[in-house]
Formats: sequence, C-alpha cells, structure tokens
Amino acid sequence: MNATPQPADPGADALGTSAAQARSAVLEQLVRQDPGRFRVLTGDRPTGRLHLGHYFGTLHNRVRLQDLGVELFVVIADYQVLTDRDVADNLTEYVEELALDYLAVGVDPARSTVFTHSAVPALNQLMLPFLSLVSVAELNRNPTVKDEIAHSRQSAVSGLMFTYPVHQAADILFCKANLVPVGQDQLPHLEVTRSIARRFNDRYGHGAAVFPQPEALLSSAPLLLGTDGTKMSKSRGNAIALAADADETARLIKGARTDAQRHIGYDPATRPEVSSLVLLAALCLGRSPQEVAEQIGSAGAAALKKTVTDAVNEYLAPIRARRAEFVADRGYLRQVLREGNERARAVADATLAEVRAAMNSDF
Ligand code: TRP
Repeated sequence: MNATPQPADPGADALGTSAAQARSAVLEQLVRQDPGRFRVLTGDRPTGRLHLGHYFGTLHNRVRLQDLGVELFVVIADYQVLTDRDVADNLTEYVEELALDYLAVGVDPARSTVFTHSAVPALNQLMLPFLSLVSVAELNRNPTVKDEIAHSRQSAVSGLMFTYPVHQAADILFCKANLVPVGQDQLPHLEVTRSIARRFNDRYGHGAAVFPQPEALLSSAPLLLGTDGTKMSKSRGNAIALAADADETARLIKGARTDAQRHIGYDPATRPEVSSLVLLAALCLGRSPQEVAEQIGSAGAAALKKTVTDAVNEYLAPIRARRAEFVADRGYLRQVLREGNERARAVADATLAEVRAAMNSDF
C-alpha cells in the first residue's frame, strides 16, 4: 500500500504557469498510457457545499482520473479552515457536506481514499521535520499566502496561516503522491512541496529517494463565473451548489447578470457574463460554447437562461439523486470517513516510520 510510486518524470521541473501547462499536457498522455504509475492527492477545505465552479474546475477531473485507474487520495483539509478564521464553524456539517458531494459526483470509496487530515496524527507529525527544510524568507514570499492574508477575516495573522503550505506538503507527501491536480493559485504550494521532498531526500535519503517530487496537473477547464459576473465562490453568494434543487437553480440562473445586447454570442473578453452562461450550458450539454451561442442567436437572454437552466438541471439530476440517497444514510457516510481515515493512518504511519528511520530517530 505504501510503495513509492516512481516520480512521473525525474527530470521535470514545474516552474511558471506556462511551463506547468505544457508539462500538464505531457502528464495527461502519461496518465493515459500508464495510470498505475500515478498516485494523486487533492482536496478541499470544508467550508460549505461545493458548486458548479468546483465541479467543472476539479471534481469532474478527479473522478475522471480515478476512473482511468489512478489511485486517488482526497483530503478534507479541516485544519486548513483555521488559516483565515479563528474558529471553524459548522465543521461537522461541512465535513459531511463535502464528503456527500464527493460521493455524489462519483468518488468511489472502494477505490479512492477520502480522509480528514486532523484524524491522521502521523501526517501532522511530518510537518515538524518539513518546517526545518524551508526558510522564513520562502514562507514570506508565497504569493498565495500573501493574497490570503490580504483577504483574511482575522485581525492578526496566525502561525498556521504562515505555515499552511508546509502542512499541505505533508498532505501530499504522506501518501507519496506524485501528481496533484490543482488550479493556478496552488502552484506556489506545490513548489514548496517539491522543495521539501528534494531537500529531505538530499539531507536524509542516504542516496535513496524517500519522497517523490510531485507534479502539478493544471486543469484545462475554463473559468466559470458566478451569477453576478465575478468569480464563482461560496462566500459571494453567486454560486450554484451541486446540492441545490431544480427550483433554486432556476431562480439563481434567472437572476444572473447578462448585458444589453439581444444577440447571444460567446466572447469571454468583451461579454464575460453572457459568455459564462453560454459556457455553463455548453459544459453540461457536452457541446462547444460557439455552437450553443449560435443556436440561441437573437432569441435573447431569457432564452439563454432557459437553455442554461434546463442543461444544468438535467446534468445534475443523477448527481443530486445520488446525493439524496447518501443524505438519507448518514451511517454509511460516517463509515466512509472512518474507513478512509483508517486507510490514511496506515499509509501515514508507514511513511513516518521511514522518515524517522532516515533521520536516525526511530527509538
Ligand atoms: N488548499 C486547498 C484549497 O484551499 C486544499 C488543500 C489542502 C489541498 N491540502 C491540499 C489541495 C493538498 C491540494 C493538495 O482548496
């Protein structure tokens, strides 16, 4: 279970976004050729229900990788909730909502491991040696952390906010994942993870690699905007949750911003709101946005919204039906989390044992 998957390509180095994009195309090929060579770790903070932006941005891709035969670990990052707030409110509820969303979209607990990182002590213990491998200057210049500090709801920045990319490295490296599907904002964290893996191997590996250097798999999914034309986000109230019902979905889409032009077209640069609605319909219908826009043509925004509403509700119907089944069976849900945590603990214990042996501290 804890065998080290080979690094996807030891010579590869993910630098900027364009390099990561080019590399991701190559990785896609490699995954299709030999999925068994990859172990994926990815995850989310439990801060509320997931929405269509998450679905087309990452969830869909995770399930695709799982179904291709890649081993998948999904972390419910409950400690990470505390990076930008003092108390993790509604944590039990949000952890369960997240797990429900995962199951509903097709994460299969028989093949994939869903776990909460707070329940895996050995994972958290990795943070200690890992912290010794990064400098304060490196932590200080992480652009994603800087951005989160700027938008934080806390009056003071906590040590956890400052060091959470190192904790995230523990999330990734405890299971020796070699592939991490991420959005662009997570690239700096992946660089931290790669540095930690490399430095640990150099310092303690005695010529052997304890950790692989994981690579980013950048999503090729275009960005979906929320109903107000800004980034779709739970905290902005502009998101369509996977778990929303058909009526709520219709209401949200009806209230979505459009523009004054009657003719519907697809041009994200000049008509972001209309184009995002067109894109959403296209993703659900499995067609190109241009095609969808052309078909609506001069029928106007009302026709566009009807198309989007029908497409979304039809696409989500089976996902929502599955979710409702799992909602009705909380016992099963808890069992999935319990078993996922057990599996993650076994993997983390084995990795920590290796780390302690490498550091000559296995007393
Ligand atoms: N930082 C991620 C987010 O905010 C969640 C996360 C925690 C994660 N640990 C991870 C993502 C490890 C990828 C790998 O959504």
